[in-house]
Amino acid sequence: MDGADEDPWSAVAEGWAELWGGFADPVRRTILTAAGVGPGTRVLDVGCGSGELLAHVDASGAHPAGVDPAPGMVALARALVPGADVRVAPADALPWDDARFDVVTAVNSLQLAGSITDALAEAVRVAVPGGRVAVASWAEGALNDLDVVQRAVAAAADEDVPPDGPLREAGGFEALLAGGGLEVVAAGLVEVPWEVPDDATLVRGVLLGEDAEGTDAGHRTVVEAARPFRTEAGGYRLVNAFRYAVGVAPD
Ligand SMILES: C[S@@+](CC[C@H](N)C(=O)[O-])C[C@H]1O[C@@H](n2cnc3c(N)ncnc32)[C@H](O)[C@@H]1O
Repeated sequence: MDGADEDPWSAVAEGWAELWGGFADPVRRTILTAAGVGPGTRVLDVGCGSGELLAHVDASGAHPAGVDPAPGMVALARALVPGADVRVAPADALPWDDARFDVVTAVNSLQLAGSITDALAEAVRVAVPGGRVAVASWAEGALNDLDVVQRAVAAAADEDVPPDGPLREAGGFEALLAGGGLEVVAAGLVEVPWEVPDDATLVRGVLLGEDAEGTDAGHRTVVEAARPFRTEAGGYRLVNAFRYAVGVAPD
């Protein structure tokens, strides 16, 4: 993602769904279970991307709704889960009335909000009193094989890797939820491996958002940096980790 496009997430939506869409499934399952999602639960997923969490919600007999500011992502989510109510909006301006959902989730998206605290306040507003808010995203770089590859790409471009920031560290999500008035009832770390079958898929995934020229230029750097994670079958398995926390909204 180079951020040059006006709507960079719509521009990469198809590639995201293909290369990264299922990747967060282990943590999706963890937070849906921790939040008590089951038949009849009304769930809103904030920054829903191409809709994979909504598909899990739908399969469990719960009622899925999603929101994402990228129309390209929303189109894919609607196609994946036709019964879901999926709307175009950012996390800090949710287009629903107060107290509409039993559970509000945000996976790998809250950090993109203009104001994370405003986004959390919106999640609490649309949750019923006593409802659950569940958040999850990348753990600190030291726990992610992908970080090794991203550092090599940044070094080749003579760029700095941004610091992890407090949300990626242990206790970060718990502090965020507590600061928003929620009682934290679950938190932890979940392994989220990313597996690809060959060099070309590896490079497209790592350099998602680059044009063909940028992808070609970065190919060698990515493949060399990912060598420690190569499988016997010629693909790659990068082990990464997500942190999550679940809080109860105030009555
Ligand atoms: C890394 S993707 C994750 C998508 C999905 N949650 C998943 O786990 O696969 C980030 C998503 O956040 C969305 N996003 C970007 N800015 C946002 C904002 N201000 N509020 C909510 N979502 C945002 C993007 O459009 C994109 O779909």
